Amino acid sequence: MPLGNRLLDSARADRAGDLLIPLRDGISGLRSICMGLQPPDLEARDLAAGISNVADTMRARHGLPVYVSVTPPDAGKGLPRETQTSLYRCAQEMLQNVVKHAQASEVYVYIEEDDGTLTLSVWDDGKGFEVPGRVLDFVRQGHFGLAGLEQRARRLGGVLRIRSAAGTGTQVSIIVRLGR
Ligand SMILES: Nc1ncnc2c1ncn2[C@@H]1O[C@H](COP(=O)(O)OP(=O)(O)OP(=O)(O)O)[C@@H](O)[C@H]1O
Ligand SMILES: [Mg+2]
Repeated sequence: MPLGNRLLDSARADRAGDLLIPLRDGISGLRSICMGLQPPDLEARDLAAGISNVADTMRARHGLPVYVSVTPPDAGKGLPRETQTSLYRCAQEMLQNVVKHAQASEVYVYIEEDDGTLTLSVWDDGKGFEVPGRVLDFVRQGHFGLAGLEQRARRLGGVLRIRSAAGTGTQVSIIVRLGR
């Protein structure tokens, strides 16, 4: 039975996440190294600095302009290290998706703290795609990235939002309540 179906079977999403997230970390780590998106000293960086480093590398490697906006300037710095790392992994997957699928000419990353909420958002002006009702539907077809993002968002007590349509670009956001 294909891995996607096994995940769904055992699924009931939370249990699938136990498998999905460590699996994704391994794959994502390798892919990041291959794509040149892995900053060498993530552990020493906060969320915004880590993401800015990925953005710099994407600019250099793929010639893709990536603009990072952090509001207020210390947004995310007060989060536990584990939470920052998890959000950083999310940003990596979002940006890898842009490189792999979007054919975008520019990308904006927003890290915003407002009214007890942290939003991490990646917007590209690329070709967009049809968003299924449930991202787990992608797992069936062997695509694990967006499902992994949803799992991470849930674990952080937050939600994943995807806005996309063919021809209009894509915005993928994770919204997390702070103080958890
Ligand atoms: N920024 C984007 N622009 C256009 N299409 C996208 C974008 N992000 C995702 N997609 C579409 O959604 C699908 C599912 O994405 P997902 O990250 O789950 O899987 P994947 O990137 O194909 O594979 P994996 O992440 O498992 O290596 C992609 O195959 C692609 O068709
Ligand atoms: Mg992906």
